[in-house]
Amino acid sequence: MFFKKSFKKNNLLAEELPALLHKSKQTANYGKPANYIPALANSPAHLLGAAFIDKAGHTILEGDHPFPFTLQSISKVFALLLALIDNGESAVFRKVGMEPSGDSYNSMIKLQVVEPGIPFNPFINAGAIAVSSLIHGKDKQEKSYRLLQFIQLLSGNPQISYNETVYISEAETADLNRSIAYLLKENEVISGEVEETLDVYFRQCAVEATVQDLAKCALVLAFGGVDPVSGKSLIPKRYVQITLALMLTCGMYDGSGQFAVQAGIPAKSAVSGAILAVVPNKLGIGVIAPALNKKGNSQAGVHLLEAASQKFNWSCF
Ligand code: DON
Repeated sequence: MFFKKSFKKNNLLAEELPALLHKSKQTANYGKPANYIPALANSPAHLLGAAFIDKAGHTILEGDHPFPFTLQSISKVFALLLALIDNGESAVFRKVGMEPSGDSYNSMIKLQVVEPGIPFNPFINAGAIAVSSLIHGKDKQEKSYRLLQFIQLLSGNPQISYNETVYISEAETADLNRSIAYLLKENEVISGEVEETLDVYFRQCAVEATVQDLAKCALVLAFGGVDPVSGKSLIPKRYVQITLALMLTCGMYDGSGQFAVQAGIPAKSAVSGAILAVVPNKLGIGVIAPALNKKGNSQAGVHLLEAASQKFNWSCF
């Protein structure tokens, strides 16, 4: 496995990281794990782990990195890429917009008050449900399996699978997402069986991974869809450009503007407390810290990425 290499010695990031992590970890006290999905409520609130991978496959793993978590909203990045591959750019953006909503990730308010009633972007729940409905497959199982395989391909980890407890917990309690999906059908954004589309969405949210898996996926995005280690092209560059632009503007929900100012790198957060972040042409990053801030982003994870970006001058601007 090429990703096993370590570059701890003589590497500034590796040297500074323990102190950065220590400081960020203390901020976890200000947040708390998501509890609207019952299975996430008992996630360890004080945990913080991170993985960084460079173009040679050199890896830094720091803190509580072996902890597995569900992808939740980070899966929206992979679903968008696969929907673009399956349908092309114009078909996808007939069903979903490209603008930050300024509302919380599970809001449905603009579906009713802003014509033509399509979701503002692919990373709020409404947009992600619309995107999941575009993934090709003869039934929900095939759609879900194709998305899982795509995540396995990007991460280089064929063992990645689902956390069935979280899947069931979300499916049983998703009244708000159900309301959103039925409104999307009424607005002719999605067609067919609403429950089928929701099942694909719940399954993708329950894909379980580690920060190392996230960092490997992020590395492919950092290099325009090419795995820099194997040299294999895995995603058309244009689709990576679209996805990174949307991550920068909408990836941290209604905290995206502040994160763009403080960190200046494309990132996508999840209610499990995970963040996938990309330093273009440099690094793939995965972070986990389950205590969330008021916007639904990882409290300590955001702190760590902002501090590291400022220290190592990662901002794209
Ligand atoms: O739709 C939901 O509620 C979740 N399964 C995913 C949302 C999510 O991760 C939002 N993140 N900040």
